[in-house]
Amino acid sequence: MILVTGGAGYIGSHAVLALLETGHEVLVLDNLCNSSRLSLDRVALLTGRQPRFIEGDVRDGALLDELFQRWPITAVMHFAGLKAVGESVREPLRYYETNVAGSITLCQAMARAGIFRLVFSSSATVYGESVSMPIREDCPTGIPTNPYGQSKLMAENVLKALADSDPRWSIALLRYFNPIGAHESGLIGEDPNGTPNNLLPYMLQVAVRRQPQLSIYGGDYATHDGTGVRDYIHVMDLAQGHICALERLGRSAGVSVWNLGTGQGYSVLEMVRAFEQITGRALPYRIVARRPGDIAQCWADPSKARVELQWNAERDLHAMLADAWRWQLSNPQGYQHEQAPQAVMVG
Ligand code: NAD
Ligand code: UFG
Repeated sequence: MILVTGGAGYIGSHAVLALLETGHEVLVLDNLCNSSRLSLDRVALLTGRQPRFIEGDVRDGALLDELFQRWPITAVMHFAGLKAVGESVREPLRYYETNVAGSITLCQAMARAGIFRLVFSSSATVYGESVSMPIREDCPTGIPTNPYGQSKLMAENVLKALADSDPRWSIALLRYFNPIGAHESGLIGEDPNGTPNNLLPYMLQVAVRRQPQLSIYGGDYATHDGTGVRDYIHVMDLAQGHICALERLGRSAGVSVWNLGTGQGYSVLEMVRAFEQITGRALPYRIVARRPGDIAQCWADPSKARVELQWNAERDLHAMLADAWRWQLSNPQGYQHEQAPQAVMVG
C-alpha cells in the first residue's frame, strides 16, 4: 500500500488515479486545506476503486505512527504542502512549518515504522535563475527568491542529508516544471482557491469571463517574443513519472533527482495563441510590468528521467490545453458541484 500525502490535491489526485490504475492500494492523508474530498470520489468513479482517505495533518506524528501501524504501507508519495508564492512571502512560518517541518515529521515517523521509500514533490524553482538552458539535474541549485522556493530547497537538503546518514533510505526528488492540464475525462483537475496565480488557471477564468482579461507579466524579457518561457507538462504525464520513480526506488538506495518536464519551452504569448485556437474564444490580454521574482525562461533537459526511469512526457500542448478546457467547462465552479458533470467534447 502506498501512503499519498496531499492526495486530494491537484497533482496528488492524478497520482492516486495512476497508482490505482497500476494496481496499487492507496491510502490518502490530506487535511483538505486546499482541496476537496470530491476529487477522490471522482477518482473512484474513474477507476472503480475507492482510495482510502484519512483527513489529517502531515505534521501530526502520532497520527502518522497510527497509520503506519495499521496499514501495510511500503512507500510514501509526499505531495502535502503549501505552494502559493505570494502567500509564502506574507506567511513564511506557515510555509516553512508545513513544507520543511512537515517533511521532517513524516520522515521521522517513516523511520520509526521501518519504511524508507519516499517520492518527494520538488520544483524547478530550486534552480533559481539558471544561466544555461535546458536545465539538467546537475546544474547547481540557485537561490529561490521566495520562502516557498526556499522551503522546497531546504526540504531537498534535509532529505539528501537523511539518505547520506542511513543507507536504508531510497528517496526520489522529482523537480516538476510547470504542471498544467487535467485528466482527459474532465472529471478531475486543478481547482484553485480564489483568484489564480498561475497562468493557465487564470486564462481559463478569463475564457469563461470570471476575470476580465489576462495580465501578461513583462513583454521585455530576453526571449524570442519578450514574454516569459516555461516548460509546461501535462499532469497525467507527471503522475506517470511518479509511478516510474516509485518502481525505480525499489531497485536503488540513496537520493535520486529527476526533472519532470517535456524539454520544450513556450512563451506566454504562444500559450495565449494556442489556447485561443483550442477554445475558439478570444482571450483579452494586456502586457504589464514584470512580476517580482519571475525569471525569463526555464525549461528542462528531461533525458535523465528518460534513460533512468524509461519515462517520457507523451502529451503535447494541444492535449494539455484541451484537457484543461474540458475540465473547466464541465466544472465551472471546480469541485463545488454536487454531481459528477456530463462529458464535454473539446478539440
Ligand atoms: P495542491 O494544493 O492542490 O495539493 C497539496 C495538497 O496538500 C492539498 O490537497 C492540501 O489540502 C494538502 N495539504 C497541505 N498542507 C497539508 C498538511 N499540513 N497536511 C496534510 N495535507 C496538507 O497542490 P499541487 O499543485 O497538487 O502540489 C502538490 C505538491 O507539488 C506540493 O508539494 C507543491 O509544492 C508541489 N509542486 C507543485 C507545482 C505546481 O505548479 N502545481 C510545481 C512544483 C511543485
Ligand atoms: N504569467 C502571466 N500572467 C499571469 C500568470 C503568469 O503572464 O497571470 C506568466 C509568468 O510571468 C510566467 C508564466 O506565465 O512567465 C508562468 O507563470 P506561472 O505563475 O504559471 O508559473 P511559474 O513558472 O511562475 O511557477 C510555477 C509554480 C511554482 C513552481 C514553478 C516551477 O507556480 O510553484 O512553476 O515548477 F515552482
